[in-house]
Amino acid sequence: MVEADQGALIESARFTVDDGLSAARALASSVDADERFEFARAVVHGTLRAYWSEVGSNLHCRWPLRVLPDGVEIASIPEEAGALAQCIGAAAAQLDPLEAGYLVGVLYTTLMPRAARAKLGAYYTPPALCERLLDMATDAGVDWASARVLDPACGGGAFLAPVARRMVAGRKGQDARAVLKDIERRLVGFEVDPFAAWMSQVVLDVALNDLCREAGAQLGSVVRVCDSLEQAPAGEGFDLVVGNPPYGRVTLSAPMRRKFKRSLFGHANLYGLFTDLALRFTRLGGVIAYVTPTSFLAGEYFKALRGLLGREAPPASIGFVGKRKGVFADVLQETLLATYRRGGDPGSGTVHFISSGENGSIEVGAAGSFSLPESSDQPWLMPRTEAQGALLSPVTVDIDSEGLAVRRADGSLGPVRFPESEATLLASMTPENAHADLLAEPNDREIGPCGPELPG
Ligand SMILES: C[S@@+](CC[C@H](N)C(=O)[O-])C[C@H]1O[C@@H](n2cnc3c(N)ncnc32)[C@H](O)[C@@H]1O
Repeated sequence: MVEADQGALIESARFTVDDGLSAARALASSVDADERFEFARAVVHGTLRAYWSEVGSNLHCRWPLRVLPDGVEIASIPEEAGALAQCIGAAAAQLDPLEAGYLVGVLYTTLMPRAARAKLGAYYTPPALCERLLDMATDAGVDWASARVLDPACGGGAFLAPVARRMVAGRKGQDARAVLKDIERRLVGFEVDPFAAWMSQVVLDVALNDLCREAGAQLGSVVRVCDSLEQAPAGEGFDLVVGNPPYGRVTLSAPMRRKFKRSLFGHANLYGLFTDLALRFTRLGGVIAYVTPTSFLAGEYFKALRGLLGREAPPASIGFVGKRKGVFADVLQETLLATYRRGGDPGSGTVHFISSGENGSIEVGAAGSFSLPESSDQPWLMPRTEAQGALLSPVTVDIDSEGLAVRRADGSLGPVRFPESEATLLASMTPENAHADLLAEPNDREIGPCGPELPG
């Protein structure tokens, strides 16, 4: 197909899926709250059935759609909802599997009852952010040809599928069956929601279709349905623990509080527990790559976690995600991407800021670098823009006829020149007030990336 036609087809498929999402939300609003979860699963199951059948004819998939895990029943839904699922599934098949998987995941999570969604912290990550985090993991030293990788909250496979693709690329030219077996050995997901675990496997099936066809076999199960917080590491540990863990305050049982004591100070937040968990599952020298809220950087409730990270796995790189609504369909609150190296040098790390580009792509700008405070449980101050980068690192300031020039410690000219009016403003900013938003206490219930809500 000509490239322009292909582009138009993809655009039109995106419109159809978008419209389908709105129509599905409207249908769900007339479903009783206690039947909403079954409704969400039935619509998404119908969508993935249609998707699979369409993709199958395009890609010559030889296998039937994977069976659902034991205990997951699919309820019947009104004809109108079934037709809608069919339409969304067929349109999604025109998109890259990772984009399709994300959009079907958004369908699932926005149809869920609000309370169940909040309890699970089910907010899936857009593909461009996943790829960015995986690039940061590469920069931190992850070798996709050999790394063992865990996503302890894998949802619909947002990270598992692109990681699997990188594993395949890292083994290019090798026997397909051996590569498939190798991925089964090296890739692991945990997920408490059995339906989401099934979605992950389906997305993996499509993302690895070429390899599976060549190998003449399907990928075995790589997702374990379990409560991650109850798991204990066995063996050497993973080279990379990656993901977007659930967020939100939780009340812990006494044994759980004891288990995570080292990272707790006051209220527990799920993402803090999952960060502590990642440390336990990562081998010495391995990398943690997480999407989380920014509140742990300075919030008092996260001081024990900051201390633990500073001692055991200092951050290597941080990317702040632009907070404007609509930047990423599913992201509302202050979010960052970070890599940490277990046993790494607590020297300095780099900071980037990430904003939205065209069609779900992202733009990345360098903001500077940071060093942890001497006592790492203290707030971590870091720049979020080039201008703050200049302010927070050691600089000298010259004022000449063109205004103010920032000079770095190495003598080079900084990235910005401010006219005199801005120079006055900047001179009044200290590192603390440049980052004042992070010094606030975390919200009562930190619900991260979120999309349009339905009445619960
Ligand atoms: C923020 S979503 C992220 C999903 C996926 N990694 C992504 O980035 O799109 C968090 C996921 O964690 C799962 N989850 C919540 N609590 C869990 C637990 N205790 N054990 C395992 N999974 C859990 C939720 O069901 C949800 O799918």
